[in-house]
Amino acid sequence: MTKAVRVHKVGGPEVLTYEDVEVGPPGNGEVRIRQHAVGLNFIDVYFRTGLYKAPGLPFVAGNEAAGEVLAVGPGVTNFHPGDRVAYYYNLGGYASERVIPADKLVKLPDHITYEQGAVLMLKGLTVWYLLHKTFKVEQGHRVLIHAAAGGIGLLACQWARALGAHVIGTVGSKAKADLALANGCDHVILYNEENFVERVKQISRGELCDVVYDGVGKTTFPGSLSCLRPRGLFVSFGNASGPVPPFALSELNNHGSLFATRPKLNDYVGTRKELLEGADTLFAAVINGKLHVPINHAYALKDAAKAHIDLESRATTGAAILRP
Ligand SMILES: NC(=O)c1ccc[n+]([C@@H]2O[C@H](COP(=O)([O-])OP(=O)(O)OC[C@H]3O[C@@H](n4cnc5c(N)ncnc54)[C@H](OP(=O)(O)O)[C@@H]3O)[C@@H](O)[C@H]2O)c1
Repeated sequence: MTKAVRVHKVGGPEVLTYEDVEVGPPGNGEVRIRQHAVGLNFIDVYFRTGLYKAPGLPFVAGNEAAGEVLAVGPGVTNFHPGDRVAYYYNLGGYASERVIPADKLVKLPDHITYEQGAVLMLKGLTVWYLLHKTFKVEQGHRVLIHAAAGGIGLLACQWARALGAHVIGTVGSKAKADLALANGCDHVILYNEENFVERVKQISRGELCDVVYDGVGKTTFPGSLSCLRPRGLFVSFGNASGPVPPFALSELNNHGSLFATRPKLNDYVGTRKELLEGADTLFAAVINGKLHVPINHAYALKDAAKAHIDLESRATTGAAILRP
């Protein structure tokens, strides 16, 4: 028997149930791992509430973690018991042990801790593809990053700055503003108190932004479109405040021949080659000191409901982990 946090019916944080689960031996192409740290993500909330559909009920929550290999199934040649590994994978993450396809795992370099690995595979890889693939951030670009003090936000601000961008962040409090400024933001806007569109216009002297990274969704739309220069790119990658409502394509024309995309990690690390390219680049950025991994909260796995309450009530900053 191993421990896991399962969802038997979708709903509030109270549906996260800490219980015994049976974990079998690894099958063909699979690996059994003992998990040392599990990443907490807003996407875990979407699955818990039913905004994103799990394949069935009950399901084990959680989408990223790190740990050590206990056993490998038939046909697995590139992983061995004792290897330190991490992964991003749809569901099954909130557990002390689990079985997972070997091709979803990456080996952790010696200098990356389990805790760092557990928050880099979903959050870090997302930041990697957003800044390198969805839009290639380069020296001199002006970028707007919403929820700049969040798990994705602090990593994105640091990395965008390291790539030479001028970084504007939005945050929900003064304390978060200080954190964002210490993590790569050149300017921070308190978007609950200030009109962020007007502030972006002021800060950029009317030139606006090349790209807007928007994981907040409902409350920052359509303002985000007004922050873009003609032919700029609107990257809507999340729904922390609720989904972006359907809108007319002509809005992109009205705001200056804009481009818009709604990307997801699966489509950027769908092949083994892409996954390893992203992980190698990410780990190198951490090891070279370009990227500091801000793990600001830790909870016992059994307290996953408390972790969700904190995340949803905007009480967290940076990354948070669950300890099995
Ligand atoms: N598409 C992808 O591939 C992908 C992958 C990973 C994550 N994501 C998305 O990235 C976003 C950030 O994820 P994360 O795990 O790093 O979370 P997070 O940013 O640590 O937490 C969400 C933040 O959003 C802000 N927010 C604004 N309105 C909110 C509201 N009504 N309720 C709750 N929070 C609100 C809060 O910051 P303030 O208090 O500063 O406003 C809050 O701290 C999420 O939308 C997530 O779905 C997308």
